[in-house]
Amino acid sequence: MKKLIRNGKIATENDVFEADILIDGEKIAEVGKDIRCDDAEVIDASGMYVLPGAVDVHTHMDLDVGFARAIDDFTTGTEAAACGGTTTIVDHMAFGPAGCSLWHQVNEYHRLADGNAAVDYGFHGVFQHVREETLDEMREIALKEGITSFKVYMTYDYRLQDDEIFNVLRAARDAGIVITVHCENHGVIQQLRKEYIEAGCTEAKYHPLSRPSRCEAEAVNRMIHLAAMAGDAPLYIVHLSSREGLHEVLKARAEHQKNLGVETCIQYLVLTDSMYDDPDEGLKAIMSPPLRKDADREELWQALSDGLIDTVATDHCPFHYREGKAEKQYGRNDFTKCPNGAPGVQERLILLFSEGFMKGRLTLPQVVKYASSNPCRMFGLYPQKGSLEPGTDADIVLIDPEKYTLIDRDYIRGASDYSCYEGMKLRGKIGKVFLRGKEIADGGEFLGAPGDGKYLKRGKSVLAGSDQ
Ligand code: URP
Ligand code: ZN
Ligand code: ZN
Repeated sequence: MKKLIRNGKIATENDVFEADILIDGEKIAEVGKDIRCDDAEVIDASGMYVLPGAVDVHTHMDLDVGFARAIDDFTTGTEAAACGGTTTIVDHMAFGPAGCSLWHQVNEYHRLADGNAAVDYGFHGVFQHVREETLDEMREIALKEGITSFKVYMTYDYRLQDDEIFNVLRAARDAGIVITVHCENHGVIQQLRKEYIEAGCTEAKYHPLSRPSRCEAEAVNRMIHLAAMAGDAPLYIVHLSSREGLHEVLKARAEHQKNLGVETCIQYLVLTDSMYDDPDEGLKAIMSPPLRKDADREELWQALSDGLIDTVATDHCPFHYREGKAEKQYGRNDFTKCPNGAPGVQERLILLFSEGFMKGRLTLPQVVKYASSNPCRMFGLYPQKGSLEPGTDADIVLIDPEKYTLIDRDYIRGASDYSCYEGMKLRGKIGKVFLRGKEIADGGEFLGAPGDGKYLKRGKSVLAGSDQ
């Protein structure tokens, strides 16, 4: 079945222009003026922007952290994604049982996602120890599964030590694999958390104080040097949150560090640590790294405007706040007991459109670049995803700039019982969303089905390819 999207304003990472898009089956067949096709279903996109489907390369569906499990699984989380205009996710795996092979979580994640996802999906692998066979497993998984990125944590229980990270980086460089890293200084965080709790400082507002920006900056700096010493290993820093962390990135950029990718997340661009002022509501925003100050937010926007950050993701990882077991309430008397994470996969694109483009901080091509094209380049999906080139997947989202989006309980399409953005009235509204030519959402209503999403074997990242 053919579809013809007529009279829209096409937005790519390079340009905005008036044209039609012809979809044939799952692919984009043609982009041009006044396309004629008598047997196509016509979709009138007058007054709408037409963008490549958004791609969120940092989600945690069904994340099992031992004492709690993220309440969006691959079904509910990808329905929320679809309604928000995101047609592809690349999900970060949870840690598996102690000592398990890297294959354990690959198999577990196929069990969780296959047949259940409503948008296309891939996985990032995760390290929780490093032995000689672990590096072989990484290479094997990249080849057989198309999982061409693996994550390392510098904090949490399964963090790696510097020597282990160095060995991972060298092996990854040789195999053309990207290492994604959660950068925070573990020792300082542990010490501060202990001191705050011992002093009776248990409320949510102590969460950001126990994870200061310099913890991020120190770890970002260390990773940048480790990657350089590992022969310019492909390094992707996830969820950059602070100006101090950003300054380390800018220094590396100025020194022309090779093969470096940097992600921030929508919450660090839109929200601030004032969310922690209320001891109850503050639990909603307990995530790591924590929300920062207005000055951090503004420098991150500026870095995006200047092209110095590569992607905007979400770190989508929601837990209930009020209903059911209300896992966020575990932190009511001790912020360290609150499961880390918040929702965002549905909100990201419209927030970036409204707060970035409509407020003049970014151009529309930059929104496309950070929400779609660059994430795909970073993780071996471009141009199949993240472009509107003929022959590529017909993943397309329409946005009406004349309408508004009110973030309230009715807006939420995932399993989460709250949004950190509740009460915001955003400029623009997500319209029709197509996944490989199939309409899977319209105006926030889900029209797809679990299983519409296909597993994506990914290719090599531009980070891994650019220097080899
Ligand atoms: O608070 C967060 N971000 N939770 C998810 C795990 C992680 O650190 O990315
Ligand atoms: Zn993280
Ligand atoms: Zn994460």
